[in-house]
Amino acid sequence: MSKKRIVLAYSGGLDTSVAVKWLGEEMGYDVVAMAVDVGQGGDFEVIRHRAIAAGAIAVEVVDARAEFANDFVLPALHANALYEGQYPLVSSLSRPVIVRHLVRVAEEYGAGAVAHGCTGKGNDQVRFEVGIRALNPELAIEAPVRVWGFSRADSIDYAEKHSIPIRASKEKPYSIDANLWGRAVECGEMEDPWAPPPGDVYEMTVPTKTQAEEIVITFDQGRPVGVDGNPLAVAEVIETLNTRLGAFGFGRLDMVENRRVGIKSREVYEAPGALGLILAHADLESITLERDLAHEKARLSTRFSELVYDGLWFSPLREALSEFMAYTQRYVTGEVRLVAEPNRVYVNGRRSPSSLYDYELATYEKEDAFRHSDAEGFVRIWGLGVETWARKQR
Ligand code: ARG
Repeated sequence: MSKKRIVLAYSGGLDTSVAVKWLGEEMGYDVVAMAVDVGQGGDFEVIRHRAIAAGAIAVEVVDARAEFANDFVLPALHANALYEGQYPLVSSLSRPVIVRHLVRVAEEYGAGAVAHGCTGKGNDQVRFEVGIRALNPELAIEAPVRVWGFSRADSIDYAEKHSIPIRASKEKPYSIDANLWGRAVECGEMEDPWAPPPGDVYEMTVPTKTQAEEIVITFDQGRPVGVDGNPLAVAEVIETLNTRLGAFGFGRLDMVENRRVGIKSREVYEAPGALGLILAHADLESITLERDLAHEKARLSTRFSELVYDGLWFSPLREALSEFMAYTQRYVTGEVRLVAEPNRVYVNGRRSPSSLYDYELATYEKEDAFRHSDAEGFVRIWGLGVETWARKQR
């Protein structure tokens, strides 16, 4: 009888490389390693060889960059999604696309189980497991890193003992997760929230430019479609802004966030493209969304961000909120001009063919078409309740 199969979400890092071996040796699985390209960079041929060297019976490499940009990042951009007002959900958004492929590959290989390399303290285990159960509740889920009780040094020893070619050193103890939408760095000295992040944690936001630049972003119904007049796919817009805004040192975040599992953790992020795009997109909405719609959308954005952070991408409420967000984007078409300067990016102009900004209503010049005499009665009635309260009770 052939051995039971499992598909492992494989990053090529120390933990998942050790997990390939461990799932085979300790759990008796035939392991299929699945690596997903979400724009994190790195050489997938090296990753493929490493998985085989660690004992995988097969390796699947999935290029999910466009899918990640269109199906996951774009809905988050429509929502201007920032967890706790700051974090653009870099890792939170990539887990559901990885889950989608993990479940698909498991079904293709006839595997009854899937595995991930998350620890028991983080959010990512929640995102993997809740997502897997939403897409295929029949799959068994293994979480070797949560079970085996290895320290980092133990994992390095285990890899050496089994001749797994890993590239980990005991010196740089950072946990890094990167994709098209940004980069997250944890651990090491940063576990003291007062300690400044060491300079060598940054990769996407190393300042090299000193001369200010203008960057014009074009949106079509909420979708970023070009930079400086050049038409680009969504993923290309993000890549372009990562490079151009990152070169000014823009896009760093240092925050203590509330994990789903009840821990406060200090996180350092780099997300120049994400933060620049959200800034521009939200600005274009300021001229294209009616007031009540804009305000309600901002309230629901908080909820959307929490759901995505909490691993509920595949849930009816997240799907319904995305339908709402998508509907609001019908007139979010136009251009936003950003200025990049060392360590900052700001908006200094926006325009839209569907703009609700009405010059004749807004102007203080002679073209003014606002009916000033209407204001007197409006304001009197607006304040009537407060006036009555003041007369009788205050
Ligand atoms: N704290 C972030 C989140 O929960 C990032 C987690 C990234 N994972 C990592 N291995 N650094 O979305």
